[in-house]
Amino acid sequence: MKFFVDTADLNEIKDLASTGLLDGVTTNPSLVAQSGAKSFIDLIGQICEVVPGPVSAEVAATDYATMLKEGQRLAKIAKNVAVKVPLTPDGLKVCKALSDDGTMVNVTLCFSPAQAILAAKAGATFISPFVGRLDDISTDGMQLIRDIVQIYRQYPLIKTEVLVASVRHPLHLVEAAKVGAHVATIPPKVIRQLYAHPLTDKGLAAFVADWAKTGQSILDAA
Ligand code: G3P
Repeated sequence: MKFFVDTADLNEIKDLASTGLLDGVTTNPSLVAQSGAKSFIDLIGQICEVVPGPVSAEVAATDYATMLKEGQRLAKIAKNVAVKVPLTPDGLKVCKALSDDGTMVNVTLCFSPAQAILAAKAGATFISPFVGRLDDISTDGMQLIRDIVQIYRQYPLIKTEVLVASVRHPLHLVEAAKVGAHVATIPPKVIRQLYAHPLTDKGLAAFVADWAKTGQSILDAA
């Protein structure tokens, strides 16, 4: 399973890239606004230099012609830009046009299996179903992932990858991995939570204490 980080904070991205576990980055207009970046184009360029995998950059317009121009501009920033478009009729038209030109496209704001089928037909590189936001309205977000993975598996010609978005906690990630989702985009805080287990901390403290009792040093050994 590929791990993308869901943030536009360049420092966070640099820090997490150093773990060696990061396969890509997703941003959205809300995350860019939070980052305080003065130039979206420059920010995406800098992120693309830090992470060689796909970096999602979302269009701002909602009409076909402007979204297409924005998508073409974003795609010029770097080879690893994945243009993010909303799951609307115009968004999917842009998806088809950009995909046909060889640009990676991430179709976002997916909340139903029917929408995911349309995105695959439009040639999306990634479909982004939002699990957390479905959970927020008392719907089983993870069921959407199960449905999309199952549907896509029926058609070996579908190359669209299921990119689990709106991940709120480690269990979302584990459940998504169990059903075989290709990618999860994870907020930095949740990535750090993935490492944590109290028994790891307790066990390590015991090993460190017991090792000290041996009086030995591995590096000083002959
Ligand atoms: O980037 C899209 C998605 O991951 C947003 O998550 O937490 O704002 O629902 P959230």
